[in-house]
Amino acid sequence: MHTRRLFYLPAAMLVAAAGLSGADVSGKWKAEFTSPDGAQRTATFTFKADGAKVAAGRKKADEVLCAMCHGGGFVGQNEIPRVAGQHYAYVKKQLLDFKARHRTNDAGNMTSVATTLSEDDIENLAQFIANLQ
Ligand code: HEC
Repeated sequence: MHTRRLFYLPAAMLVAAAGLSGADVSGKWKAEFTSPDGAQRTATFTFKADGAKVAAGRKKADEVLCAMCHGGGFVGQNEIPRVAGQHYAYVKKQLLDFKARHRTNDAGNMTSVATTLSEDDIENLAQFIANLQ
């Protein structure tokens, strides 16, 4: 029962993160995410960058100094991961999870950053990062 609860919450967040309405959640998507064993599966998301959000995300990234750790253009350095060009839904989910303290394997680095971000900031940052090459 515990694993089911842990499983459904991220799936619901991914739906929200991908901007899908209930009607868009097709049987195929459900089949991929609600496997009886509770394992996480890959899914295909189509992402189309919104220019205004990308610009707002770039501004926020400069303001919060994400580059200090992730390197200019989010290309990564040492143990800090590259996130440039990472999937939009994935980035958004990680930032929301750090903010909510659901993801805690970052030695507090990302949690302290993410708690200062609003949900709009996170949406804009995810758009900006996903749009980087
Ligand atoms: C103080 C250093 C630091 C700053 C500043 C920082 N990060 Fe991070 N970030 C990290 C570390 C370290 C990790 C890897 C955590 C781990 O290993 O789980 C990480 C992970 C991430 C991840 C998840 C990557 C993955 O592959 O799962 C995302 C997305 C991310 N950061 C985005 C950002 C954004 C956006 C900003 C600015 C708002 C930012 N980071 C600022 C250190 C930082």
